[in-house]
Amino acid sequence: MKVIVCKDYAEMSAKSAEIVADVMKNKPNAVLGLATGSTPEGMYAKLAEMNKAGEIDFSQVPTVNLDEYYPISPDNDQSYRYFMNKNLFDRVNIDKTHTHVPQGSAADGEAEAKRYEKFVRSLGGADIQVLGIGRNGHIAFNEPDTELVPETHITSLTEDTIDANARFFASAADVPTKALTMGMGTILSAKKIIILANGKGKHDAVMQMLKGTVTTSCPASFLNLHDDVVLVCDEACYNG
Ligand code: GLP
Repeated sequence: MKVIVCKDYAEMSAKSAEIVADVMKNKPNAVLGLATGSTPEGMYAKLAEMNKAGEIDFSQVPTVNLDEYYPISPDNDQSYRYFMNKNLFDRVNIDKTHTHVPQGSAADGEAEAKRYEKFVRSLGGADIQVLGIGRNGHIAFNEPDTELVPETHITSLTEDTIDANARFFASAADVPTKALTMGMGTILSAKKIIILANGKGKHDAVMQMLKGTVTTSCPASFLNLHDDVVLVCDEACYNG
């Protein structure tokens, strides 16, 4: 895994936007695998700026997001669909019909997971997948466990994740307890992966991943099985 340590959040956001932009410049219809969470917000702002300046073009780009709460309406301001519209899709020249997020409002969640997996595979996987990391080492909503799931599936969120995400909801009781998420195999099917992490709180999870071994107690460690992964983090995260 390649490691890029930036001095702060702004530099991390600019550096990661540059990596995504390079993929888009080389392949105008590159499949972008996208992530939510507070970590990539700065990177999305930077990409929107670059789009406005005419440096990158989203008109031919399809996107696939990692995950979505379940059940949740796309109009709910805490849904990942809402987040993506607000932080990126409404700010760039993308065709919204080319943007894909697992459907949190699907009546049959299991069927939606199967449909989404098939769809991502039909695109040949992402050309670049952006990831954040949970403070417990989760990626997307693949939580630490004794076993991990390869394909898109419905999962229960851990107390730690519900607690970490409660800051966005009125209370922890309002955080959905389940989610639709790409599995480890779906994520690893991406041709290139960048994982972003900032702040002290992510230090332990990042260090576990950087050990280079693989353990289901740190799903991010599975990225060690992929040969084109870049960690872009800030000094606070790296130094702890
Ligand atoms: C969330 C998301 C992940 C994200 C992570 C970290 O629960 N499902 O995709 O990477 O937790 O979030 P944040 O960037 O806000 O720390």
